[in-house]
Amino acid sequence: MSLKQTVTLLQARNGINSVKQRASSWWSGVQMGPPDVILGVTEAFKRDTNPNKINLGVGAYRDDNGKPYILPSVRKAEEQMRAKNLDKEYAPISGLSDFCKRSIELALGEGADVVANGLNATIQGISGTGSLRVGAAFLSGFFPGNKVVYIPSPSWGNHTPIFKHSGLDVKTYKYYDPKTCGLDFAGAVDDISKIPEKSIVLFHACAHNPTGVDPTKEQWAELSQLVKNKNLFPYFDMAYQGFATGSIENDAYAVRLFIKEGHRVALAQSYAKNMGLYGERAGAFSIVGSSKDEADRVMSQIKILIRALYSNPPINGARIVSEILGDANLKKQWLQEVKGMADRIISVRQNLRDNLKKEGSTRNWEHITNQIGMFCFTGLTAPQVEKITKDFSVYLTKDGRISMAGVTSKNVGYLANAIHAVTK
Ligand SMILES: Cc1ncc(COP(=O)(O)O)c(C=O)c1O
Repeated sequence: MSLKQTVTLLQARNGINSVKQRASSWWSGVQMGPPDVILGVTEAFKRDTNPNKINLGVGAYRDDNGKPYILPSVRKAEEQMRAKNLDKEYAPISGLSDFCKRSIELALGEGADVVANGLNATIQGISGTGSLRVGAAFLSGFFPGNKVVYIPSPSWGNHTPIFKHSGLDVKTYKYYDPKTCGLDFAGAVDDISKIPEKSIVLFHACAHNPTGVDPTKEQWAELSQLVKNKNLFPYFDMAYQGFATGSIENDAYAVRLFIKEGHRVALAQSYAKNMGLYGERAGAFSIVGSSKDEADRVMSQIKILIRALYSNPPINGARIVSEILGDANLKKQWLQEVKGMADRIISVRQNLRDNLKKEGSTRNWEHITNQIGMFCFTGLTAPQVEKITKDFSVYLTKDGRISMAGVTSKNVGYLANAIHAVTK
């Protein structure tokens, strides 16, 4: 045996032969995935050197100077927390119990029967996304009917992957009418009527993303009846409570109505928008059961799922939420601040409409003020979106959705001029 052969043999015995070659082959079959649609818009925005550029892609609140906004109530809560010198121990698997109780009460109202009777299994999730995902995992494992979720068309882009990754099938029901830039209520009712019994139907509790189009109170009442008649299981995604109309109560109307009418629901909540806690990842997931015993059993299984997923949630954001909701003065202050954010969005909608008129646009832009919450589905077509980005450095998703939070009193004139230029 030559010296080279001996060395190769020894390396092979020691498991160090051609390490490079073997390691490089592990992932050779992995194909490049597409970039996230919304983050892709932000990346392109960052590369643009036009001083007038506007980013209307990302759904995060900005103040009237286009700057991220930290709520003063959040700052105050953090100060109060610092004075308490809190530890950094693990939270329980289901999260901070005070946070969970305050979250479900925020959704259903203080003194809600469901909570008083222990019918809810509520856990602290990792903001809205993580809460939806835990709920999806639970439904995938335990839902006794069809493991299919019907989501509105269109819906938030992450709904489909969240449910599919959990092993549920995803189908859609009609929701948006591009002709009116409003709700296709007849289409929604028609499609929901055809859903097989014992399926899961997802509703955006308020401020539908991406369209900004919500059912009226009367329409919610009809939907509630329909869901009951068809024996469907309603799953509410409430990512914008308070942020839509400025009122916590108004924005929880649909969820509270369904509960009042006897539905047993699933509910995902997020504090990203209404407390501006985006990166803190504070949210909650609840199942409302038929008895305390049922809720306890559900809770035990959700905890088993969470233990294997991430063991227990982060503590800081949940502590901030608890501090605010548990302190009457701070809560009052927060409610005013949420209203302040919602009011700015509402006024900037009117401002954009007025400016379009000033530009001489004869199109009907009523939907800008009829729609609600963070987003406006402008009705701009994909080629118009391409043009407004290329010619005016206005960045938005291809579906024509703009984040109203990115519109300010300073850029609204420029934006209206750009929209008019690509739509006239
Ligand atoms: C409809 C909807 N659900 C859930 C979320 C979840 O957000 P987060 O995970 O940041 O709380 C969002 C955020 O954009 C949303 O629009």
